[in-house]
This record gives sequence, structure tokens and C-alpha cells, in this order.
Amino acid sequence: MTLEAATRERQMTADIIDGKGYAAGLGDRITQQVSVFAGHTGRAPGLAVVLVGSDPASEVYVRSKGRTARQLGMESFEHVLPEDTTQEDLLALVDRLNTDETVDGILVQLPLPRHLDSLAVIKAIDPAKDVDGLHPVNAGYLASGLPGLVSCTPLGCLMLLKSSLGSLAGLDAIVVGRSILVGKPMAQLLLAENCTVTMAHSRTRDLAGKIGQADIVVAAVGSAEMIKGDWIKPGATVIDVGTSRVIRDGAKRLVGDVDFASAATRARAITPVPGGVGPMTIMSLMHNTLLAAFRRADLAAPELW
Ligand code: GUN
Repeated sequence: MTLEAATRERQMTADIIDGKGYAAGLGDRITQQVSVFAGHTGRAPGLAVVLVGSDPASEVYVRSKGRTARQLGMESFEHVLPEDTTQEDLLALVDRLNTDETVDGILVQLPLPRHLDSLAVIKAIDPAKDVDGLHPVNAGYLASGLPGLVSCTPLGCLMLLKSSLGSLAGLDAIVVGRSILVGKPMAQLLLAENCTVTMAHSRTRDLAGKIGQADIVVAAVGSAEMIKGDWIKPGATVIDVGTSRVIRDGAKRLVGDVDFASAATRARAITPVPGGVGPMTIMSLMHNTLLAAFRRADLAAPELW
């Protein structure tokens, strides 16, 4: 390699995939379609968010979901229940929201307090209103390649991947993490885009070697900077779902699952933390609420991305 080529390679820095900017654009398109929906039905799409207890992080998320819904012209219904809410009372609320015609989307913020059965609550949500895409019916639709509602974070990741790469067909993708919320639906979405998908998890052998073969890396493990830059195949596209709070040089910082500085010298494009996947998750929720509203009203759903 010539000195010039070596210098160029060392300095190679990835394009930053601007989730914040993409989410803002998507928000504008959603706002337009909220008006179209209201023109047909005489009402705005409605999102109900349920929070049980007072976990500070969950409170911030729930407030932010309500605020974003209102900013886009939707109706927001926020239900904050005490920590000692019974399963019966929570299920009764879900039932009321299921039959409330002004509610198009229902989101029960997780995690729930330990005495509550999350799966039973998720299963009680009308799948047509399950804007989190967590109901087994929606997970089944996704795995079967049928239209349903798709979990918000993986949907946002897919939007960013397609905006960065165009067609994903034939690419080798690795998803690190196998949660119901992110890893599993992400793998299904990539498969539906004709990627060859590897699912890696805590028991995977030679994770670095497997990541090194992937054109697309989606990291969703929740472990600060565990994926090192020299594991990344040069020219790969990296989507970092992780958000961990760490102290660096005495200051609090939010970092992802990928060591950004070193990965950016090898990847062709990478999402930053913050400003990458985070803003997309909430906008995907708004997207799903709009989609649920159109479908429930028997209107043709708009293409938003
Ligand atoms: N808690 C953290 N992320 C999420 C999410 O996407 N949906 C729900 N319901 N709870 C969460």
C-alpha cells in the first residue's frame, strides 16, 4: 500500500446517519397525513400511553411520547397509575382503551412493576391498536410476512438503513441481541428485505469474527461500547441501538453498544448516540399510530417512507 493510500485509509471516517434529521422529516409527513385523516373522519388519531408507577426514566419517555403526539396534531391520552395497581385494574383499563373508538394506539410502558404480568397485559391489547408491535399476533404477522404493526425501534432502524443504503437485498446482516422488543423483530425485518441474517447473542462464539463478515451491523445489547471498531468490516453500515449512561473524564455521557470513535474509521456509515436510533423510535411510534388509525377507519394507509 502506498503511503498516500495508507493515510487515506487511516483517516476514513464514516458518514453519520442523522436519525434526528430523518425523524424530523418523517414527523412533517405524519403531520400532513394527520390532517388527511381528520378530513375523512372528523377526528385526530389518538394514542393512549399507560404508565404504572413512577420510574423516572419511564416518566420521561411517556411525557415525551405524549408531547410528540400532540406536536404532530394527534390526540394524546396519558394514564398514570399508582405503583400498587393490580393486574385486574390494569387489564380493565386496557379493555376500556380497546373499545374506545377515539383511541387508535395503545402503549403500556415497560418494564411494569414486578408484581404485574407484562405478557398477559400485552396479550390483552387489541392487536389492531398494538402500536408497540409486541402482541404475539403482530410478531406472528411479521414472521409470516403479513401486514401488521412492527415494533418501533427496529422499524426506525430499518428506515435509517434504507435511507442510507437503498436496497438491502443480498447483504449480510448481523443483529446482536435477541430481545422481543428489538433483536427478534429486527432480524425478521432484515430477512424480509432479503438480507442474509445472523442473530448473535450472549452465547454466540467468536462474536468479533461474525461481526467482521457483516455488511450491516445492528447492535442491541445494552452494553456500553462492547463492539470494537476493529471488529467492523471496512465499508459496513452500523446501526447502534444501545444507550448506556457512563462517566467519562468526570462527565456524564450517553454511549452506544459500539465504540463509535474506532468504528467510524472503518464503517461507511454509522448512527451516533445520541441522535441516531433514539429519535427514530418515538417517530416510529407516531408512524404506527397513524397507520393503525387509517387501517381502523378502513382508509388506505399512506406511504411515509
Ligand atoms: N420501554 C422501553 N422501550 C419501550 C418500548 O419501545 N415500548 C414500551 N412499551 N416500553 C418500553
